[in-house]
Amino acid sequence: MISSVLPTYNRAPLSFVKGEGSWLIEADGRRFLDMGAGIAVNTLGHANPDLAQVLKDQADTLWHVSNLYKIPAQQNLADRLVDSTFADTCFFTNSGTETAELAIKMARKYWYDKGHPEKFEIVSFDGCFHGRSTAAIAASEADKMTKGFGPLMPGFVHLPFGDLDALKAAITPNTAAILVEPIQGEGGIRALPDNMLKDMRALCDAQDVLLVLDEVQCGVARTGKLFAHEWAGITPDIMMIAKGIGGGFPLGAVLATEDAASGMVAGTHGSTYGGNPLGCAVGLKVMEIVSDPAFMAEVNRKAALLNQKLEGLIASHPDVFEAVRGQGLMVGLKCKIAPIDMVNAAYAQNLLTVPAADNVLRLLPPLNISDEDIAEAVKRLDAAASSL
Ligand SMILES: Cc1ncc(COP(=O)(O)O)c(C=O)c1O
Repeated sequence: MISSVLPTYNRAPLSFVKGEGSWLIEADGRRFLDMGAGIAVNTLGHANPDLAQVLKDQADTLWHVSNLYKIPAQQNLADRLVDSTFADTCFFTNSGTETAELAIKMARKYWYDKGHPEKFEIVSFDGCFHGRSTAAIAASEADKMTKGFGPLMPGFVHLPFGDLDALKAAITPNTAAILVEPIQGEGGIRALPDNMLKDMRALCDAQDVLLVLDEVQCGVARTGKLFAHEWAGITPDIMMIAKGIGGGFPLGAVLATEDAASGMVAGTHGSTYGGNPLGCAVGLKVMEIVSDPAFMAEVNRKAALLNQKLEGLIASHPDVFEAVRGQGLMVGLKCKIAPIDMVNAAYAQNLLTVPAADNVLRLLPPLNISDEDIAEAVKRLDAAASSL
């Protein structure tokens, strides 16, 4: 008999009932160290008192107002994001997938309005993940996401990851945008080299193509800069964010330059809940906290600490681990065994990790994880690897 919750996930037999910082507490009282943070969502840990206070204050004041009206909390967060980034404007969503939908629509509408309706193709890369909507799965093309859901939405072109020559050859008069994660998350913490992002930006400028960055997983201080593209010193035309910006409250946003957003006039897009006061109040607090240079310096220091300890772990378990990769606290451990075996062995040590493609185990801890918890996590990974 089918379960009352649609069984689209292979769930671990764990039910968490409470969170405290980097820890989750199981119904039976066991404490688990959370190195997944809800897949890069709980930026400031579980039940962060500052975020909880803002959410409670907003809940006591105003929950929902239609986008038929101005929403001050939304305006404040939009102003903050615009002040902190390349962007001139933002649209708020409830998830990352919805940002993919809007980013694709925005890119197509841009060229349509410029008199080039033939420029509708979106170029994406092998191993990418942009969500589970019909457009987002068409962008990914991966068999495991698309099989049985055809016909797939047309207008997507797929290229090998990181192959600049293939990219140059694939740009045609039909190309509207390149859609790319600066660091692939689900694809296995695969970073585009900085010079590749620079080359992509240059190619887009030369060939009249929009650059759309998906920073849903790598954005909002995860890599030790507010947004991952800052490491390469370039800016996109359109950027998708979600996950970390809400710190656990469902929130996403598409950020864009005035030019890239020029087609999105009144009536072209909408969302009942997008930009609701609860999410935006929390998002503003997250931005205030993570934008503090002292906070960012700590993210980078902790990332260096974690990396150093992981190098030691790899040296101790050369049969299990191959290499550590990623940026900041978006870390991938390339495994020599199936990463799900490591995830299961870590469960037995009361440690939460996340598998990814390309034989990678992901570590995406809360950005304010303590040094002690970093040391504890590596100790538990060591015990888990020894148990295999
Ligand atoms: C890079 C990236 N884009 C988009 C998404 C989709 O976001 P959501 O699950 O919030 O719809 C994800 C989710 O994992 C992601 O990692």
